[in-house]
Amino acid sequence: MALRTIRTMGDPVLEKRAKEVTEMTERLKTLIGDMLETMYEENGVGLAAPQVGVLKRIVVIDVSEERNEPHVLINPVITETEGEQTGYEGCLSVPGKVGMVTRPERVVCRALDENMQEVTLEGTELLGRAIAHELDHLEGRLYVSLVEGELVDADSTEPDEEEVEE
Ligand code: NI
Repeated sequence: MALRTIRTMGDPVLEKRAKEVTEMTERLKTLIGDMLETMYEENGVGLAAPQVGVLKRIVVIDVSEERNEPHVLINPVITETEGEQTGYEGCLSVPGKVGMVTRPERVVCRALDENMQEVTLEGTELLGRAIAHELDHLEGRLYVSLVEGELVDADSTEPDEEEVEE
């Protein structure tokens, strides 16, 4: 496995729609391993393939404190949402910044896992936010287009306010 370079805002790859995965290949297995390694290295809670320059519908997410609950979602589709949550959100592709974003409180998502088996992932709070954020990346949409007010420096927010890098 290897670390991949994270593309940052302004890179056109972040604004394109990613393509469906039709079969699992050695190359994609390597990509998924690298995405997990890169997400953990950067202390992110999620990473989408376009963020490392690959226009495939693959995301990885881990919102656990222990960093030991990875979710791999291939061709993910949100099937259900409920409620709202508003809070600071960040993105590894927009380093050093956060912004206030409203997302569903609860999100249910259907996808394939790394073995191309169907999985359902349900998330509330941070996991719900992460699913919604990462799936937006697959549409070429960055959270900055959803921010209420201005982007602010990540270190200017109160330490007890929730902020996450995805
Ligand atoms: Ni992001």
